[in-house]
Amino acid sequence: MADKQFFVEWPNGIRTAHQVPSDMGLSLMEALKALDYPIEATCGGMALCATCRLEWLHGDLPEPGDAELDMLDTLPDAGSASRLSCQLRVTDISDGSAFRVYSLNMIEGDKPKVQHG
Ligand code: FES
Repeated sequence: MADKQFFVEWPNGIRTAHQVPSDMGLSLMEALKALDYPIEATCGGMALCATCRLEWLHGDLPEPGDAELDMLDTLPDAGSASRLSCQLRVTDISDGSAFRVYSLNMIEGDKPKVQHG
């Protein structure tokens, strides 16, 4: 199976492109951690902590399940674009999807100034 490409948007609006294998059964949280994004994922992917939160910007993805919806309902600033990356499989999102990693909003400095792969 081919690699899948997605874009992570930084708080300054710049998007970084990544290509990851779509045949390894990885969740998006696992893929992002492997790419060194600062995702705590303290519950280990059980939809219990929301530290893996994303704001979806573009692309098709499956509807959230009950566990994900229950967790998102506890977040005061979650909206219809909010998702938990641990509940999404790389294989299930459309190629070229784009999203913002919520925890990147808390980071100062070291933001990319150009798009790269
Ligand atoms: S890793 Fe805890 S909710 Fe996703």
